Amino acid sequence: PQPSRYEAEDAVVANGVVESNHPGFSGTGFVNYDNAVGGYVEWTVNAAAAGQATLTFGYANGTPDNRPVALSVNGTTLANVDFPSTNVWTTYATATATATLNAGSNTVRATATTANGGPNADYLEVS
Ligand code: GCU
Repeated sequence: PQPSRYEAEDAVVANGVVESNHPGFSGTGFVNYDNAVGGYVEWTVNAAAAGQATLTFGYANGTPDNRPVALSVNGTTLANVDFPSTNVWTTYATATATATLNAGSNTVRATATTANGGPNADYLEVS
């Protein structure tokens, strides 16, 4: 099946803001997490069938340091996902994880785990 892209600026955001000042993003902007632990972006994604999916996160991280997030799917924390430096905020990259999704609606939440907050979150693609 074709991947489905869900923009961060259309997701539910806690302790972050939608911005568009660093070109190169998909859609109309990205989410700038607050520089703190606990902010999140939560996407509601649809899966045609239950099973394993690849989650691809588009992001930018203009700092030298990794900005890991805790990944949870349907309320269950699965793993930390690393978002290494992209050197500048206008360079976007992807990070991937795998998860088991239910048929139909699922929530995918990426929560900042360090005082730096998460990366600038551009989109989530499910395939
Ligand atoms: C800068 C940058 C933001 C980024 C922030 C951060 O302020 O312009 O886009 O989110 O750093 O460190 O998270």
